[in-house]
Amino acid sequence: MNSLPLLQADAVSRQFSIRSGMFRPRSTLHAVNGVDLAVERGAVLGIVGESGCGKSTLARMLLGLTPPTEGAVRLDGQDIRGLGRRALARRVQPIFQDPYSSLNPRRSIASIVSLPLEVHGIDNPGQRKAIEMLERVGLPPRLAHNTPGQLSGGQRQRVAIARALVMHPEIVICDEPTSALDVSVQAQIMNLLMDLRREFNLTYVFISHNLAVVEHIATHVAVMYLGRVVESASTAQLFHDPRHPYTQALLASVLTPEPGLGIPDMGLGLSFPDPLHPPSGCPFHPRCQHAMPLCKTERPPLARREQALVACHLYPTAPSSPNGAQPS
Ligand SMILES: Nc1ncnc2c1ncn2[C@@H]1O[C@H](COP(=O)(O)OP(=O)(O)OP(=O)(O)O)[C@@H](O)[C@H]1O
Ligand SMILES: [Mg+2]
Repeated sequence: MNSLPLLQADAVSRQFSIRSGMFRPRSTLHAVNGVDLAVERGAVLGIVGESGCGKSTLARMLLGLTPPTEGAVRLDGQDIRGLGRRALARRVQPIFQDPYSSLNPRRSIASIVSLPLEVHGIDNPGQRKAIEMLERVGLPPRLAHNTPGQLSGGQRQRVAIARALVMHPEIVICDEPTSALDVSVQAQIMNLLMDLRREFNLTYVFISHNLAVVEHIATHVAVMYLGRVVESASTAQLFHDPRHPYTQALLASVLTPEPGLGIPDMGLGLSFPDPLHPPSGCPFHPRCQHAMPLCKTERPPLARREQALVACHLYPTAPSSPNGAQPS
């Protein structure tokens, strides 16, 4: 039996060189900083954390759209840099928050969903495969020849889902797939994603601000803070016994599914720190009610604490093994 995780982030980092003002020198922003993740086949890894903590940057690295500045993303153990974009796209597909921006407004729905088949030279007589997939995701056949502008938000997201699945990928990276939709439509799309997962044996990475949704769909959860994973555990473990003070605050907060608004009131007193000037030691220490002198000077490693991996000095344990970011 193959013990390798299907998808792995191996100490991945992504830095951006940015200028915060016209005449200011460039500075380095560590959007993602040494993240280890392991996603088993059939799992749903939820990734949560406040706006700007690096979730989408990590998603883009998992999709091969943004190259890591350090570390590697591996599929069945192989660095995706060696796979080529087309081979990767057959196996890993995205579903983003705003399908409108990624759907060509001049093409018909059927031709948008047919495009990946054309690119890969797969037979699709009369666009039949695309139309079947559109039906499978709940779009009536009469819409197949409409353009994206003639569809509702929920219908457009169904088109994006059909396009992602028409090549039968193994992994789907969902980045806030329902956040732009009306609440009633969100539930329909979530149910569809869960049905499709079963039907097509999909593995999901699922990014959302909505913790209720993550609890519902994910088998495992990774909590990110300022570009790092601070806690990782099975969904049941994380929601019933959160260890990191940040995870505890996150779960206690009233969350909004609006990504632009982030997580409004965490009762933490201070707002999310400037990622250009991260705090010393544990980056969460200025907001942490349990902070000790050690927290100001030393960053705690992500370490196993019973069933969870936690990066916090409250739990002194041995460091985790390199690929142990997803406890069983
Ligand atoms: N192309 C880029 N150039 C410069 N900085 C970037 C770029 N992409 C992201 N960033 C910065 O990297 C950090 C992480 O951004 P990212 O979009 O990954 O966060 P996020 O967790 O997805 O946030 P949200 O929940 O709002 O979607 C932010 O500070 C962001 O401003
Ligand atoms: Mg994002």
